[in-house]
Amino acid sequence: MTKEVYNVGEAPPVGEVPPKMHAWLIREERFGQPMQSFKSEVIDVPDIKDDEVIVYVMAAGINYNNVWAGLGIPVNVIKARNKAGQPEDFHIGGSDASGIVYKIGKDVTNVKVGDEVVVHCGSWDRNCPWVTAGNDPMYSPTYKIWGYETNYGSFAQFTKVQGHMCMPKPAHMTWEEAAAYVLVGATAWRMLYGWPEHTMKPGDPVLIWGGAGGLGSMAIQIVKAAGAIPIAVISGDDKVEYCMRLGAKGCINRKDFDHWGMLPHWKDSVGYGEWMKGVRKFGAKFWEVLGEKRQPTVVFEHPGETTIPTSLFICETGGMVVICAGTTGFNATVDLRYLWMRQKRFQGSHFANDEQCYAMNDLALAGKLDACAARVFPYDEIPLAHQLMHDNQHPHGNMSVLVGAPDFGLGKSAEEPIPHERATLPADDTHSTPHPFPLSVPLADMSEPEDIKLVDDGTKVRDRMHKGFISCTKEDTLEHAAKIMFDNDVHALVVTEGDEAAGVLSQTDMVLARQGRTIEEAQQITVGDVMTEGCASCDVDAPMSVAITQMMKLRIHRLLVTENDKPVGVLSMTDIVKNLMGDS
Ligand SMILES: NC(=O)c1ccc[n+]([C@@H]2O[C@H](COP(=O)([O-])OP(=O)(O)OC[C@H]3O[C@@H](n4cnc5c(N)ncnc54)[C@H](OP(=O)(O)O)[C@@H]3O)[C@@H](O)[C@H]2O)c1
Repeated sequence: MTKEVYNVGEAPPVGEVPPKMHAWLIREERFGQPMQSFKSEVIDVPDIKDDEVIVYVMAAGINYNNVWAGLGIPVNVIKARNKAGQPEDFHIGGSDASGIVYKIGKDVTNVKVGDEVVVHCGSWDRNCPWVTAGNDPMYSPTYKIWGYETNYGSFAQFTKVQGHMCMPKPAHMTWEEAAAYVLVGATAWRMLYGWPEHTMKPGDPVLIWGGAGGLGSMAIQIVKAAGAIPIAVISGDDKVEYCMRLGAKGCINRKDFDHWGMLPHWKDSVGYGEWMKGVRKFGAKFWEVLGEKRQPTVVFEHPGETTIPTSLFICETGGMVVICAGTTGFNATVDLRYLWMRQKRFQGSHFANDEQCYAMNDLALAGKLDACAARVFPYDEIPLAHQLMHDNQHPHGNMSVLVGAPDFGLGKSAEEPIPHERATLPADDTHSTPHPFPLSVPLADMSEPEDIKLVDDGTKVRDRMHKGFISCTKEDTLEHAAKIMFDNDVHALVVTEGDEAAGVLSQTDMVLARQGRTIEEAQQITVGDVMTEGCASCDVDAPMSVAITQMMKLRIHRLLVTENDKPVGVLSMTDIVKNLMGDS
């Protein structure tokens, strides 16, 4: 061993792993924005297990996960690992890499010391019974994203990975290009090839959201290579050329439409009608770009909340909307009629297994996948690259950083199999997604290790309710019901049948009844035709916290209070706020 630690950019002899290395570390006491959370330190190179490999990192890919890791939210990744028995009090991020194999465990057979590789970020315990039974490791409870959910990612001179994660590096790519495409490429591959019956066929139209983004730019190329027809959605005409160069048949500028967001209520005939006009206009644009009246058999989704209603509507009968993120929000609204009557599939997808990663990489090796590295940084700027992401000042497409590579443009050892001109984004392009969420978010499980603590101050519904209630009958006209509402200054009436409560007539019901009708027509409708059947109710002796949960769940502001199953009063959100904040 010649040196204890090598300078960044000074490669140790192949196969010689020094005891120490330079690395960018996140520590708990530095949690915060990237310029603060990342710090360069010298630490021990980790030991490996029999199925693991040490790779000398030449370049690393950047993604948003390690902005979150540095902020310490929504998960403190260091604490989470400490809890699982791993003692390190730091995190080294980085979930994409190109580099050279320097050391292998005794069970590793797919690579040898000296191999030039790219690394995919899917790791799992090879002894997990689910995996040993031959199932898709993506469903294994041991599945973890390397460099976010595991330590020793690629922002260091050496990274520790499982052997199966190493794949041959395309010889025609530079180190920085090779570090840019695997995470997004493999994710896009599984989305497009991982859900049989809905694997695209030559000639199939495919709608791709965010065509100029990291995932979208990979999807365009994968769809094109399959002989299917990629149509990209973008937010500015300055990105058309980029997507066309990657292989898109054409583009749709989403800024030409304004029907985005959650679906209007299906009873809101005017709102729904407006939305329908918007989505049809979008569909007509799709036909125009495609050059024929066919709908996409696959819709490639990741924006989520704002685009899902459109995706599910525009998708062909029997087709699939496949989604791997909810960048604009997690509450997708679905008009279920279109889902079941037109027998569409709404499929979640997350990263990729070995088979899918290798298949995607074969496309890259064959020269059919441009890495779309939009911006490359030197090693010292790893915090800056993340800060730009944090501040939404980074470009579309993929970013990478040099680690061991001493300069830009190195690492090519062969000509491109298919010579082509690089697709480039406009020079002033910056990213348009407000705040992407981490690739892996912590989700609740059936068996949580800690009890869920419920806080309740002991107040009962009877302590805060209004006794009595204002009512009408099913046979009353809306005109009469409206008069009762205004005379009593209430927002909803209990609809009674004998001494039972049959339902509620709310102001929302009245507004919806008026949609598409004249005042005169609406006034003559009977309450029974538009009321909401059944009454959301709670018992007079129920805790307030239970009543609050019920209101939140149903998104309503009032509950009927019952005693021995007979209506006795009303609890309103105003009563609850008074209780929470004090009457003054
Ligand atoms: N589950 C997984 O395995 C996995 C893997 C990789 C990435 N992801 C996630 O997937 C998402 C996308 O990743 P990426 O690398 O492609 O990000 P990216 O490079 O930022 O691209 C996202 C694209 O979405 C488009 N977009 C932004 N706001 C939109 C809106 N309101 N409606 C429609 N499109 C909008 C933008 O394009 P325009 O402005 O041009 O429309 C942007 O280029 C992220 O949330 C990422 O974390 C998940």
